[in-house]
Amino acid sequence: MEVVIQPNASAAADLVAQIIARELRANPRAVLGLATGGTMESVYDRLVRLHRETGLDFSGCRTFNLDEYIGLSGNHLNSYRHYMNQHLFRQVNIDLRHTHLPDGVAVDLEKECADYERLITQAGGIDLQLLGIGRNGHLGFNEPLSAFRSRTRISTLSPETIEQNAGLFGGPENMPRRAITMGVGTILDGRRCVLLATGPDKAAILAQAVEGPITSMISATALQLHPHCTVIADEAAGSRLKKADYYRTIFNHDPKWEKFRQPADNFSFYQPSSLPEMIK
Ligand code: PGA
Repeated sequence: MEVVIQPNASAAADLVAQIIARELRANPRAVLGLATGGTMESVYDRLVRLHRETGLDFSGCRTFNLDEYIGLSGNHLNSYRHYMNQHLFRQVNIDLRHTHLPDGVAVDLEKECADYERLITQAGGIDLQLLGIGRNGHLGFNEPLSAFRSRTRISTLSPETIEQNAGLFGGPENMPRRAITMGVGTILDGRRCVLLATGPDKAAILAQAVEGPITSMISATALQLHPHCTVIADEAAGSRLKKADYYRTIFNHDPKWEKFRQPADNFSFYQPSSLPEMIK
């Protein structure tokens, strides 16, 4: 695992967007694993800007999202399909037929889960899996005690997750109780994982996920087993990491990070003239 601590949430999102953009430029037919949630909105905002301002091309890529609520159709304002259409898919040149989320209103939910796994395999597997982290350490909707070898399946949301997301539904009583989620094993099969965590609410769980003992009580600790996982945090989310100084030293000295090391001000998305330079 590698950990990069950026000065603020904006710089952290910039870095994640750069990593995705480089992946897409190197491999225009990349299979991207995508995530939803408040944290990801700023990443998609930057990818849309890169598309508009530098022509970042999504036409050949295919996408698989982590999860979807059971009982919500893609038209529902709180469905993750709606979120993805709004924040990314309808704003870039992606072929909507190449974008996949589990169908939360499928008649046969078990079959939907098995079909989703099959589709990922048929696409050749996920090249880059984008991840957020829940306050209870979930990845997707892999709640505490999710098996590390679990595959796409039906999951029952934990009380912490219901509390975390209830605001979007106008209260916990309106929230679905179940979801379809990629399994921890599905996520670990991705060739690269990139986890973004920002804000003080994520500091404690991020420290446990990165530096704590591996346990299925915290699904994100499974990423310690992944051969190519990058965790990107802002200072607030990284504030409880014991080895933060060491992670900074690596970022500042490892040649592979050289292209990403400019101070945040030099590659801010709010200076369009810097964009072609930063994605070389
Ligand atoms: P958030 O959700 O970005 O809204 O904090 C992340 C998650 O629960 O995975």
